[in-house]
Amino acid sequence: MMGAILSRLTKGSNVNLENKVVWITGASSGIGKELAKQCADLGARVVLSARRAEVLEAVRSELTGGKNKHWVVPLDLEDADKLMESATAALADIGSVDILVNNGGISQRGMFLETDFDVYKRLMNVNYLGTVALTKVILPSMVARRQGSVVSISSVAGKVGSKLRTGYSGSKFAVVGMMDCLRAEVSEYGIQCLTVCPGFIQTDIAVNALSADGSANAVNESNIEQGLTAQECCQQILRAIEQNKDEVVIGKGLSGLAPTIKRFFPGLFNTLAAKRAAS
Ligand SMILES: NC(=O)c1ccc[n+]([C@@H]2O[C@H](COP(=O)([O-])OP(=O)(O)OC[C@H]3O[C@@H](n4cnc5c(N)ncnc54)[C@H](OP(=O)(O)O)[C@@H]3O)[C@@H](O)[C@H]2O)c1
Repeated sequence: MMGAILSRLTKGSNVNLENKVVWITGASSGIGKELAKQCADLGARVVLSARRAEVLEAVRSELTGGKNKHWVVPLDLEDADKLMESATAALADIGSVDILVNNGGISQRGMFLETDFDVYKRLMNVNYLGTVALTKVILPSMVARRQGSVVSISSVAGKVGSKLRTGYSGSKFAVVGMMDCLRAEVSEYGIQCLTVCPGFIQTDIAVNALSADGSANAVNESNIEQGLTAQECCQQILRAIEQNKDEVVIGKGLSGLAPTIKRFFPGLFNTLAAKRAAS
């Protein structure tokens, strides 16, 4: 009864998460934190991952179902070897995972000519190799059980390019390509591979983005402030899981339309992208 009411509150998502295990990276902030909350409200047991253990503990204590229903597994997506070790140990304790959400990530604000090469390595390590590493730990048990969903949060920047994001877009295009290939390989086992491409969503993504020298951008942007709420974004992610979708673009206005414009009018899109101010 309570599950049904909460389900209606999440605007039409009827996905059955009662006692399903949902492992979410980037659960200390923004989209990941909100998704953890919505999944717990729908009855899920949530595995919360990110670097900041104390923040994850605070998120866990607020989740529906109480502290003992959920797990905190701190990990750094930048260190794939250590991540695979600690995630493997945690998985042995947890048992099985129904939905893996590769959400943790970091953006970029810097022109190519000015950006340190280290920034590119970091973006690729966190956004792409971190996603590959955790998926390598979790996927074999999904294949063995012939069920599960791998959800990777790419970006509209994983479908189209724009100024200031050469490294970020590269890493997010890589996630889209990896997920397309993975889907082709594991659909025969009944495993969903959902790629999520958000446009502008109201989170700390711009504040935490890497600038040209690798320091935090440290300012928010009007595009992000006027974007979709994390709540609406997560409702759409849950609907896409429920509807067994392969890919979904989530954004309002131009940020949601950009991949379609690029697909059908690539010349126009590229001209507009070049004219747009780098700000
Ligand atoms: N907001 C948008 O407009 C937007 C648009 C398109 C795509 N996205 C994608 O959505 C995802 C979530 O971002 P958000 O918008 O929610 O931004 P956010 O508020 O900045 O959250 C980012 C999350 O990623 C975690 N993270 C960052 N570096 C990490 C690392 N090395 N190891 C482990 N975790 C790390 C952070 O946790 P810790 O700092 O505690 O580690 C935090 O929980 C990202 O993949 C982002 O690229 C966002």
